[in-house]
Amino acid sequence: MSTMTINGQSQPLPADADALLVDVIRDQSGLTGTKFVCGSGVCGACTVLLDGDPVVSCLLPAQAAAGKRVTTVEGIGAAKLHAIQKAFMANDALQCGFCTPGFVVEAAAFHDRWRAAKGAATPSREEIAAALSGHLCRCGAYENIFRAVAEACAGRFDGDNVASPRLEARDKVTGAARYTVDIRHDGQLEGAILRSSAAHARITRLDLSPARALPGVAAAISLLAADNIVRYVGAPIAAVAATDRPTALAAIAAIGLSSEALPAAIGLDAARGADAPAVFTKANRKYAGNVSEGGSSPASWKGNVRGPSAAFSKKGKRAKAWLAEAKERRDPLLVEETFRVATQAHACLEPHAAVARFDGDRLTVHVSTQAVHEVMEKLGKRYKLAHDKVRVIADHVGGGFGSKGSLGTETIAAIELARAAKAPVRVAFDREEELSVTGYRPGAEIKVGLLPSAQGALKALSLTAHADTGAATNSTIAALARLIYPAEAKDLVDFDVISNLPPGAPFRGPGGPPMAFALEQTVDEAALRLKVDPISLRKRWDPDPNRQRLYRWAESLDVWRNRKTAASQSGRYRRGVGVATGYWLYLWQPGSTIELAVTGGRIVAKTAAQDIGTGTRSVIANTVAQAFDLEPQDIEVCIGDSNLPEGPGSGGSRVTASIVPPMLVAIAKLRAEIAKSAARPPLAGSNAPWRDLIAASPDISVSAERQKDGPPAPGITSPLKQAGLMGMVFGWMMRTFNGIVVGAGVPSSVQVMEVEVDTWLGHARVLNAYTGLAIGKLAAPVLARSQAVGSVIQGIGYALYEARETDPLTGHVLSSNMEDYRIPGIGDMPRCEVHFDEAGFDHVPGGSVGVGEVATIPTSPAIANAIRDAVGVRPTEIPIRPDRIVAALNGRTAA
Ligand code: FES
Ligand code: FES
Repeated sequence: MSTMTINGQSQPLPADADALLVDVIRDQSGLTGTKFVCGSGVCGACTVLLDGDPVVSCLLPAQAAAGKRVTTVEGIGAAKLHAIQKAFMANDALQCGFCTPGFVVEAAAFHDRWRAAKGAATPSREEIAAALSGHLCRCGAYENIFRAVAEACAGRFDGDNVASPRLEARDKVTGAARYTVDIRHDGQLEGAILRSSAAHARITRLDLSPARALPGVAAAISLLAADNIVRYVGAPIAAVAATDRPTALAAIAAIGLSSEALPAAIGLDAARGADAPAVFTKANRKYAGNVSEGGSSPASWKGNVRGPSAAFSKKGKRAKAWLAEAKERRDPLLVEETFRVATQAHACLEPHAAVARFDGDRLTVHVSTQAVHEVMEKLGKRYKLAHDKVRVIADHVGGGFGSKGSLGTETIAAIELARAAKAPVRVAFDREEELSVTGYRPGAEIKVGLLPSAQGALKALSLTAHADTGAATNSTIAALARLIYPAEAKDLVDFDVISNLPPGAPFRGPGGPPMAFALEQTVDEAALRLKVDPISLRKRWDPDPNRQRLYRWAESLDVWRNRKTAASQSGRYRRGVGVATGYWLYLWQPGSTIELAVTGGRIVAKTAAQDIGTGTRSVIANTVAQAFDLEPQDIEVCIGDSNLPEGPGSGGSRVTASIVPPMLVAIAKLRAEIAKSAARPPLAGSNAPWRDLIAASPDISVSAERQKDGPPAPGITSPLKQAGLMGMVFGWMMRTFNGIVVGAGVPSSVQVMEVEVDTWLGHARVLNAYTGLAIGKLAAPVLARSQAVGSVIQGIGYALYEARETDPLTGHVLSSNMEDYRIPGIGDMPRCEVHFDEAGFDHVPGGSVGVGEVATIPTSPAIANAIRDAVGVRPTEIPIRPDRIVAALNGRTAA
């Protein structure tokens, strides 16, 4: 048998016995709905049906499908949408959508089996988790996936098609959504990158000619920096473009290379030693990466240690003196602790990827990016191309979480190879590259000292953070403690420890989760010493009006009011409840512009923003539809293309706050223009029949740029103003060098977690997660909830499981696959309740600010405080692994 059928079409089998089914489906059949992520059977993204049974196509030789029926996601709903697809759409069981085809195929098979055996009974949460346990979703859409599968199995979606709160949901559940890795141009070549196997070396010879001489190789280029030094394992050296990936990899292997080994300093402890070899000399510090979302602030360097950065201290010397005196006199209220947090990988399911094509002097690049406009500007500058000669496109982006905000090697390599080869070139990182060299949230060591006064006020606070930034700088952890819990004196000091490891990168609320892990546990410890309820103490110490409302919500929760003390529990399993607070800055991007048009009787909204799973399309469609009494699906939304009017980057939770305000202005303009052109203008003050007026309107276009905010209500101020002169300087730098404004008011989150701890095996499990969020009015409420819940599960991963491990001798990343880098699965998902407090941002036109960062910041300390509540010992290191809990229970430290 030399054929198989794919979605009913006969397909020849490849002659190559090693060819994998996933490659035949994607490359030969062009069915790009099936995704390739881990390549090792761990994530489920490549799941298809083989004669009706789900299989992972990344492990199956294509020849094993001889004579069989293969059904991909495109085939699942080919005739009409499957009930599971409708349920995913209606329940918003997806965000970026990259994992969605795999989930849909597996869940559809489960649904069909379930219905055949059990009719319209509802499967339990455990049954659904067991069925989908082979799938991973980095956006954390699990909660809504549970609901979608349960409702579909119960027959709720047997009827007609349904609407979705997410505008592009249908494309994502049917596999029609196209991501950068799915782009195929005629004659497109495949690029691959030669990377350093040494942690520190000078490249003395790079000979590309053997690679260029291989049949099928169209181009080979150097990616070395001017100093020819590689500073970490995986640093890019060269790139090739060839007709296919095996040929490109053979060409990489053929490149001639000589190098001189340099001494390396690997990891935080080795790099800050007095004799540690320097990673950067003064002259080449410009090659260091940046782990923050802001520009690099000046700081001194001593060896590999950059800092102290202490500009956000307040009476720092006094704080130090008070803490030292309290230690001297053994003040029982003094809390001192050292916390360690692990390095967290972004682990986006769509890898970093770019496809570049030149048409004459015009460059078009599809990039998996969080910033189409900014990348276009950077490319224009780098290659001296006018804006109208560069176009950056990102229709759909399979996750970013901060790692896809800048101009990356994948984009530069694709462009330079395309130019050299005179053909389109795709560069897509493999999973090892994705988990090794695309950035991470730096691990850190954070020392905290906190001293309440005898009267129970917060007198002095000190945080000293050493961040393990790899070949990068600019971490901000301790400084973030300035903007919460005012104290008489604060000593807040940040250090970067630079080493021969891949550079860190911004990651969802950069610096926020490690700061909160340390500070929020210290505040809880102070509450124990003061014998005060932890929420009451936060209410006393934290005057922020947004958080005051959230504290009142949190203390009213039954789980909080009815919690048991650790002393009252016995037996193997103990339960605990913990609370923690987080905040993020309200950011917006000046210059963000929305164009609204009536084209052919339909409203079209355009801006060069992108949707990385956060719901940008839906925010736009909802806002416009509401103003014209239409349905969101009536609005055509064009984003993800730098040819559109300037839009904001998806970073720092700034998209909604940047585009909703100008959209309101544009809406008002468009209404006026439509009314003006109407045959019978609507009466002033009347409810205009917009649908009819729009249908009859000539083509019109208006636009508006992000305006300033109005005056904030009394009590709402800029957090940077509260931080004094340095806060103002920081605000000025953000605006001048990053084009981002820090607005008044503080998006905030208070979380309460209930955990169960197995005191024999040390396993901690989050049972219930309660998240209170003050982020203003909700432009897309269902999607805001999805994002909040996704942030919580990512925070659970940070607290309990995730740790990027490196070899301390060689600098190799050891956890560069998805078996060894453990992200949460559906079985780790607790029940989640989200409370939105919509007040506090009336000065922002539209009243909405972002949710993505703030919802993940307090999760790890809330879990740690709950574990402390359950078992009476405090976890000072994350991930809070079982061996660490067992060791702490036995009064020792884990290895
Ligand atoms: S890509 Fe096949 S299981 Fe992950
Ligand atoms: S929606 Fe699952 S990975 Fe993004």
